Amino acid sequence: MSELKEPKRYLVTSALPYANGQKHIGHLAGAYLPADIYVRYLRARKKDVVFVCGSDEHGTAIPIQAMKEGTTPQSIIDKYHHLLKENFEAFSISFDIYDRTSNPIHHETAREFFTYLEERNELEIKASEQYFDEAANTFLADRYIKGTCPQCGFANAFGDQCEKCGSTLSPEELIDPVSTLSGNPPVKRATRHWYLPLDRHEAWLRQWIIEGHKDDWKVNVTGQCKSWIDAGLQARAVTRDLDWGVKLPPKTGEDENADPDRSGKVLYVWFDAPIGYISATKQWALNHGKDWKPYWMDPETKLVHFIGKDNIVFHCIIFPVMLKLHGYIVPENVPGNEFMNLEGDKMSTSRNWKLDMQDFIDDFINKENGGPQMADALRYYLTTILPETKDSEFTWKGFQDAVNGELVAAFANFFNRTFVLMHKLTGGKVPKFHNDLADEKDRELIEIIKNAPSRIQQLLEEYKFREALFEVIDLSRRGNKYMQDKEPWIKAKDPEAGNNQSSIENCLHICLQLCANLSIYISPFLPNTAKKMCQMMKVVDKMLDWENAGSVKLLSVGYSLRSPALLFRKIEDAEVEMQVIKLKKGLEESKMQQEETNNKLKEAETPANSLKTEIVYDDFDKIDLRIGTILHAEKVAKADKLLKLEVEMGMEKRTIVSGIAQHFSLEALVGKQVIVVANLAPRKMRGIESQGMILTAEQPDGKLILVNPDTLTQPGSQVK
Ligand code: 2FM
Ligand code: ZN
Repeated sequence: MSELKEPKRYLVTSALPYANGQKHIGHLAGAYLPADIYVRYLRARKKDVVFVCGSDEHGTAIPIQAMKEGTTPQSIIDKYHHLLKENFEAFSISFDIYDRTSNPIHHETAREFFTYLEERNELEIKASEQYFDEAANTFLADRYIKGTCPQCGFANAFGDQCEKCGSTLSPEELIDPVSTLSGNPPVKRATRHWYLPLDRHEAWLRQWIIEGHKDDWKVNVTGQCKSWIDAGLQARAVTRDLDWGVKLPPKTGEDENADPDRSGKVLYVWFDAPIGYISATKQWALNHGKDWKPYWMDPETKLVHFIGKDNIVFHCIIFPVMLKLHGYIVPENVPGNEFMNLEGDKMSTSRNWKLDMQDFIDDFINKENGGPQMADALRYYLTTILPETKDSEFTWKGFQDAVNGELVAAFANFFNRTFVLMHKLTGGKVPKFHNDLADEKDRELIEIIKNAPSRIQQLLEEYKFREALFEVIDLSRRGNKYMQDKEPWIKAKDPEAGNNQSSIENCLHICLQLCANLSIYISPFLPNTAKKMCQMMKVVDKMLDWENAGSVKLLSVGYSLRSPALLFRKIEDAEVEMQVIKLKKGLEESKMQQEETNNKLKEAETPANSLKTEIVYDDFDKIDLRIGTILHAEKVAKADKLLKLEVEMGMEKRTIVSGIAQHFSLEALVGKQVIVVANLAPRKMRGIESQGMILTAEQPDGKLILVNPDTLTQPGSQVK
């Protein structure tokens, strides 16, 4: 089994992002940009294609974010759904619908799906014991349980993961677990859940993926599936004890709340989310007076899921089993991408090492010298580094080089040169082509133009978007080379000589036809640029239809064209430097925040009046305490708690950054003597090197006071 050759229609999906926060450019490159390129190409081929996506608004990620932001789950999904929708629009991701899983159509569809499987005995019910918070009267999702990590001893590990050592955990492994809702230790309570017995479908999965798609799916995708299947498929729970999500439907024929075993349960987010593709198609069909059914039921529909590698198992194993059981079509391909790193490190929201779509929009697209062209500039660079077969790397220097060195220097330059010369040498009109005078180089480039579409098309059909884009850029390079060889500007110095004028006309005629072809090929990748090129050529967007690709008669002789306008601006060194600084600053800030949280947690763990672990005199003797006099105190910009102090230490002056801003006025500090930990290793805080620490004591109300000598003392004196 390989992909359908000529499908009747296409349904293309991009992973539904969780509406619990910003998404970064790694997400954009993983599941959205490649899908958009593919869909735009299909549309250019006039295929019947529907491109669906939407916000994933369920799962514990949402209420947890609500707790963090001190608001309700509903306001979280509303906030991030709209933000994500707008972000995708800013990058010209052309979904036919960007829906959301809170849509009632989705709840209905997901519940019907569950009922369909339950009625046909395709689900199993199993009893188990799970953690329950008696005070909050609720079962606890893994994230709601904290305890000591059995691996590293970190006291605040979550029930699914330790954020300190990164170990994947289950709540049962935590030492001394407590509920984050009430702070009490949870108890074990019996519960029942519905499971999808994947083991029943092993033979089919093996046949369908490992045998059937060994030649047309990416090896990283089939490889992951094979290891899953080889490891032995287990039944997966498809329900959860939670109150945020799609409520478990009642048993057929029963009232909504008739069965107490079903109350307080929702569908597991990974059961409902992919069904979101179906509900979004239904909503799209409703909006457009169409029928959604053929898109999910007709085997002549080609279903393609674009995802990142962390979603492979859900889209290649679990969801296909669900689809098959319900009698829907299964995906023809799941081009899962690897991850994109950033400046030498993994992109991470929790460590703040990332470039959010919104940040790029603010810093480039919404700037005066930005606009949609900057969205295209990022689309370009991301496409050249798509992690199609292995993890890839985004660097700001790489972005600058790709835009300045390829997009501007090769692609835009060819277009610009052609237009400038046409205005200069052939009166701003498409010149005639003198067939009888065509030379070897003219014929060679014409051949190249004619042969280009099949190669680019094949790469796009195989989801090799990087290579397809390289072909397009290479084509513009060939145009540049051809023009360089023909030197029409030299011939223009003596147009009467030989066939000089005809040669100029032939050169510009071919170059213009190549420009028109380039606008077709670049269109799926850089749609805004293609539009701009059409405006300059004074042709309607219809010219971008793929059926025109390869033609050398796209622009008619004598047709007058607009003056060239810049397709792209260069990326300046200062912009790149600024972004790198911003990135590092973000990391530092998040480290400080993390440290602060850890300290608070530690404080909370250590009762105020209990002593720290006993030490010996030698431990104490290592600390060099000295008297200092504060000479100057000032606030640290953008840090509410920090003060920068200049302290006279006798032999030298020290800069000390201290977190006491909320306890003292600046005036009250100047002239005061303090005790300084003088041999503490220097540490950077907000970019300022702190060369020591001053001692304070905490009063019962939490207010800090300085610890100082009872008489004025020589700065630098030792404290023993
Ligand atoms: O990993 C994620 O962000 C999930 N929200 C993806 C869901 S894709 C599909 F199943 F909806
Ligand atoms: Zn740990």
